[in-house]
Amino acid sequence: MARDKTVYTCSACGGTNPKWLGKCPHCGEWNTLEESVAESAGGPRHRFQSLAKAQAVMTLADIEAADVERQPTGLAELDRALGGGIVEGGVVLIGGDPGIGKSTLLLQAAERLAQHLKVLYVTGEESGAQVALRARRLGLAASPVRVMAEIQLERILAAIETEQPRFCVIDSIQTLFSDALTSAPGSVAQVRECAAQLTRAAKAQGVAMVLVGHVTKEGALAGPRVLEHIVDTVLYFEGDTHSSFRLVRAIKNRFGAVNEIGVFAMTEKGLKGVSNPSAIFLSTHGAPVPGSCVLVTLEGTRPLLVEIQALVDSGGAAPRRLSVGLDRDRLAMLLAVLHRHAGVACMDQDVFVNAVGGVRIGEPAADLAVLLAIQSSLRGKPLPRGFLAFGEVGLAGEVRPAPRGQERLREAAKLGFAVAVVPKANAPKGESRSFEGLTIHAVERIEEAIEVVRAL
Ligand code: TYD
Ligand code: MG
Repeated sequence: MARDKTVYTCSACGGTNPKWLGKCPHCGEWNTLEESVAESAGGPRHRFQSLAKAQAVMTLADIEAADVERQPTGLAELDRALGGGIVEGGVVLIGGDPGIGKSTLLLQAAERLAQHLKVLYVTGEESGAQVALRARRLGLAASPVRVMAEIQLERILAAIETEQPRFCVIDSIQTLFSDALTSAPGSVAQVRECAAQLTRAAKAQGVAMVLVGHVTKEGALAGPRVLEHIVDTVLYFEGDTHSSFRLVRAIKNRFGAVNEIGVFAMTEKGLKGVSNPSAIFLSTHGAPVPGSCVLVTLEGTRPLLVEIQALVDSGGAAPRRLSVGLDRDRLAMLLAVLHRHAGVACMDQDVFVNAVGGVRIGEPAADLAVLLAIQSSLRGKPLPRGFLAFGEVGLAGEVRPAPRGQERLREAAKLGFAVAVVPKANAPKGESRSFEGLTIHAVERIEEAIEVVRAL
């Protein structure tokens, strides 16, 4: 019986219990018992086996390390996020909202790779016929990709063993279940167990594997935040489903750089790479409007120009601060800095900020653009045409430099921007106030930046 093979382990103290309880009988913590596979004879050894191949102890200098060999997927933008391509035995987790295009992307990559390698596409969410239909729509009718519609882990592992694919897609990890556990597919225990077993199989057999994970409402990969440490690479597929642009972002990569992004556009013929994306996140206003400021953000190695919009409107007793694509806590902090150091008060106002086009901006270099957009909306006065800003703003009101400022400025100049407010350390050295046709205003403090903008 499957039931005998599972125990409930407390995530706080590690104590076990044969049944689920709300409160751990060992340490008294609530809600910490999680189902796991019982460690019977021979079990623990198997379970704690390293995911990498066993090797003798050696001096670091003596270990021969050839650079890992990468197989490009043929989708240049995906390869960029992956750090060049897929790696033998490397496991990639790709997370994203439902409907964003994960299955489409992977089917396209699978089809390209199938020209050179044996590819297995395991679908737990759609039937084989649905995958075939999608392939037709993408114009991949005569594809050699092997497809398996299955959700039981043991059968999938057996198929990997017999098919011997070099590249395998699991779509999605949340639909799989292992016979060893009684909990439902999608539960933390199932997701963790299935991912660990698949990872072990990938490493043992040298299969490059991609696990698809859905993001829950909270934004974490469903339960599967727990997977991020198991896999080698974590990619997020994001974007606004109402616009056609999608970003693939590397969050963790054992084989390459992180924060590198790939940009795609969703078309009726699937995803198309956008090789020159710097200006796609600018909205097109006929004339400058209040509350809008362009930011040059640096994602991995490429600069992107993104429009930050702010709307300040008189609020009620408890004014709201909402942000889309930017961190809300940081917004609250910036409003406090704006008030204390520049004397611009939004205390009784609702403040909304938005990064246009569904991009998510994590870097603090967005601060200055956010504050200038808010100030512009509050005053009801647009920033001049061709204006941009970047720089981090600290609690003391200082404007700190952003990494690789010259590159950001160069990109903006190339796109015809005219005026920039930037941190002093990012401005060109010497007396010159212009940079490749851009007029540069270097500032050290937020109040200085506000002064500069008022005078423009
Ligand atoms: P899908 O890959 O199924 O998303 P996920 O696997 O992340 O849930 O793609 C979802 C959307 O993409 C779907 O709503 C329709 C759209 N789409 C296109 O616009 N063009 C296409 O060629 C395809 C295949 C899908
Ligand atoms: Mg899908």
